[in-house]
Amino acid sequence: MALSFQEALSRCAAETDALLDRLLPLDAFPARRVTQAMRYAALGQGKRLRPFLVVESSALFGVPRKRALRAGAALECVHCYSLVHDDLPAMDDDDLRRGKPTAHRAFDEATAILAGDALLTYAFDILADEATHPDPHVRLKLVSGLSKAAGVAGMVGGQMLDIEAEARIDSVLSDISLIQSLKTGALFRYACEAGAILGQADPAPLRHYADKIGLAFQIADDILDVESTPEALGKATQKDRIMGKATFVDLLGLAEAKRRAAALVDEAIATLTIYSERGAVLAEAAKFIVQRRN
Ligand code: IPE
Ligand code: IPE
Ligand code: MG
Ligand code: MG
Ligand code: MG
Repeated sequence: MALSFQEALSRCAAETDALLDRLLPLDAFPARRVTQAMRYAALGQGKRLRPFLVVESSALFGVPRKRALRAGAALECVHCYSLVHDDLPAMDDDDLRRGKPTAHRAFDEATAILAGDALLTYAFDILADEATHPDPHVRLKLVSGLSKAAGVAGMVGGQMLDIEAEARIDSVLSDISLIQSLKTGALFRYACEAGAILGQADPAPLRHYADKIGLAFQIADDILDVESTPEALGKATQKDRIMGKATFVDLLGLAEAKRRAAALVDEAIATLTIYSERGAVLAEAAKFIVQRRN
């Protein structure tokens, strides 16, 4: 029997958690404290949306699930590192993440910085391993793609622009679109491209889908920041206004931000027509991204 969308997402989350648990054994390395902090940041809560997108985009091309899960776990390591560093006092200075104290609160700042660094570098070790794909050319493409998505051309670049925009009062729509497409969009783009890389297929059509959902995802994140509660969200709310963040909600207002997110979901779904009914799960994922409650 086919799983519901929620069941499919939960299944992927559980598989990703189990894999990360195996990849990060507590006693494997002498620096136990940083391993503990890595496990603290990577295991447990977390929607695992990016691994889910890797798995489902891989399924379009008949990629073995085990390989897709490894690429998804590598991407999740990068995502978790980005959260640990995003929460640091020098950045968003947050105390709550995924319903528990942020890594620098549970440990200390130095340990959190190191745990983030180690999660980032470990991601490439996971991708470079033969278990991810037997063809070294494929592994190289996975490594190069994630490095671009995570770095100055992607997430890190977006985080920098996000911080710089705090100081400005004249941010316009194109500035905000660029910030969002880098800080959040780049990892979503990689999540969808990874399936095509593993399947040795053309990643271009999925890139369009990913651009739409990546933007919709960050708009939804900004809406939840205004409309949700820390209890429901597992992280602080009302932060963007306090920090003076450049967001679509700030520039367009809530109603127009919601309209824009909904339009992006429709556009994302339209890009999937070339996959016919095989694109159904990714279409559900696009809807989930704006309907989610956390
Ligand atoms: C939060 O991402 C950070 C952003 C990019 C806005 P998620 O909402 O996917 O966080 P988790 O992984 O489920 O905790
Ligand atoms: C951060 O965006 C995106 C990352 C690269 C981590 P936010 O600062 O809005 O993410 P949250 O709201 O803290 O999860
Ligand atoms: Mg931030
Ligand atoms: Mg933040
Ligand atoms: Mg946010």
